[in-house]
Amino acid sequence: MALFTQLKSYQALQAHFEQAKNLHMRDLFAQDPERFNKFSAKACGIELDYSKNRITDETKALLLDLAREAKVEEKRDGMFNGARINTSENRAVLHTALRNKSDKEVLVDGVDVMPEVRATLAKMKAFVEEVHNGVRTGYTGKKFTDVLAIGIGGSFLGPKIMTEALKPYKVEGLNVHFVANVDGSHIHDVLAKLPIETTLVLMSSKSFGTQETLKNTLTAKDWFLNNGGKFEDIAQHFMCVSSNIKAATEFGMDEANIFPMWDWVGGRYSLWSAIGLPIALALGFDNFEALIDGAYDMDQHFLTAPLEENVPALLGVLGVWYINFFGAQSHVLLPYDHYLRGFPAYVQQLDMESNGKSATPTGDYLDYATGPVIWGGEGTNGQHAFHQLIHQGTVLIPADFIMPLHSQHEMTNHHAMLASNCFGQTQALMQGKTVEQVKAEFAGKGLTDAEIEKVAPQKVFEGNKPSNTILMEKLTPRALGQLIAMYEHKVFVQGIIWGINSFDQWGVELGKVLGNDVLAKLEDSSIALDGDSSTNALIERFRNRNA
Ligand code: F6P
Repeated sequence: MALFTQLKSYQALQAHFEQAKNLHMRDLFAQDPERFNKFSAKACGIELDYSKNRITDETKALLLDLAREAKVEEKRDGMFNGARINTSENRAVLHTALRNKSDKEVLVDGVDVMPEVRATLAKMKAFVEEVHNGVRTGYTGKKFTDVLAIGIGGSFLGPKIMTEALKPYKVEGLNVHFVANVDGSHIHDVLAKLPIETTLVLMSSKSFGTQETLKNTLTAKDWFLNNGGKFEDIAQHFMCVSSNIKAATEFGMDEANIFPMWDWVGGRYSLWSAIGLPIALALGFDNFEALIDGAYDMDQHFLTAPLEENVPALLGVLGVWYINFFGAQSHVLLPYDHYLRGFPAYVQQLDMESNGKSATPTGDYLDYATGPVIWGGEGTNGQHAFHQLIHQGTVLIPADFIMPLHSQHEMTNHHAMLASNCFGQTQALMQGKTVEQVKAEFAGKGLTDAEIEKVAPQKVFEGNKPSNTILMEKLTPRALGQLIAMYEHKVFVQGIIWGINSFDQWGVELGKVLGNDVLAKLEDSSIALDGDSSTNALIERFRNRNA
């Protein structure tokens, strides 16, 4: 398979870019009153306005040629059908099976995994209902009032961020708390407010080998046993989600308390599995199921919509346009919804851990850009923090504005104000303000021409800053499921076009190995310091911190 830059459609885009790069969206909108209708699309409950992008009909056609030449559609079908596209780990990639509502079987090594997926969902549903109904209690027989969810990365971000995003759907009487960092301050502060007798500890680790999660779970165990819990009560208070049953039972987890997950579900794609148990506990199983249904909706759209109307594919190729032709190195997510304030961090792992790669499965080092830095923050707060750089900085940062049309709390006029900021920002980024417009504003203000010449450039907005506006009716569980799956499939499309494996994450291994070596030296001062002078000095400083 030819590398990305050797594809014919890539070379056609390079030629097209030479003239397209000089177009200004101001002019494109002025020339075509139908521009919005031409460059907008709908996928289940998601409405995408991609007209504020630096594209023409020809750009769109060439970008979709690129997707076709990279065989995005064929590879997509392969993924859904269990092809082992995670080649470095020889695994299928089947987070889509977790939300497969059809009666279609999904085969892994010739075995239909759907019965097991459905059995686990049923086990989750029963467990959640037993906790909510007080059938399952703590060792004193009292209903659980709190859940301590321990995990990190994909075993934390999805559960925490989606529970936060769907706070209006939270059940009464059960509070879910999340701990991830190995920094003792995190678990210290959370444990300080938890009632031993009615706290359920849910440890999630696909590998059951993540240092932070194991450490925090041991600390939670010590806390339990040192504050009234007995060893025989642990089985009643400690549950686990893992694909590594052996390690979990060796750790002391009761096998009946282990919810399974599978190696064909990547951590950053796993909230649809039992990793999502904290979400189901916080919101009720029906709302968790609605979240899954939303992802299924988007899967069907991604599988069936022609690329010209395929929202994840359009977002994917637009990202390639900015990254590989305009040289953009980051992409900003701006959810204009307070409950979605954590969403950029979710997509950050999803995108950067998937496409932060520089070699292909066939052993080629890449000479072109791949995954961007994903960052962002809730609107309107960002307007008073970092929007300055997006408007007038020296780097191009494509933006996704995400906005529900209805608020969860229709406080008078707040939502119209929020929407006015969201839409106004996309308009300002697109149209900018010319130096002529700036100078005209100075007319009659008593400044000399020389003074105006000096100050005007600082008030010019170049504009032509691209953005997508992503709307939904309301931030319901189903709409959120659609939104998450949309980004999952966007990441997939880009990975296929770049010819990389989006589903392994070898880049996290070296830090873990070296970190363990440093830990040994920090804990045993007799170990010789044989590293670089910086690391040696840092270890020495920590060793002597109490001197
Ligand atoms: O960051 C590496 C990683 O393996 C992520 O991919 C994963 O989500 C996280 O660590 C936690 O892994 P586990 O669920 O196996 O503890």
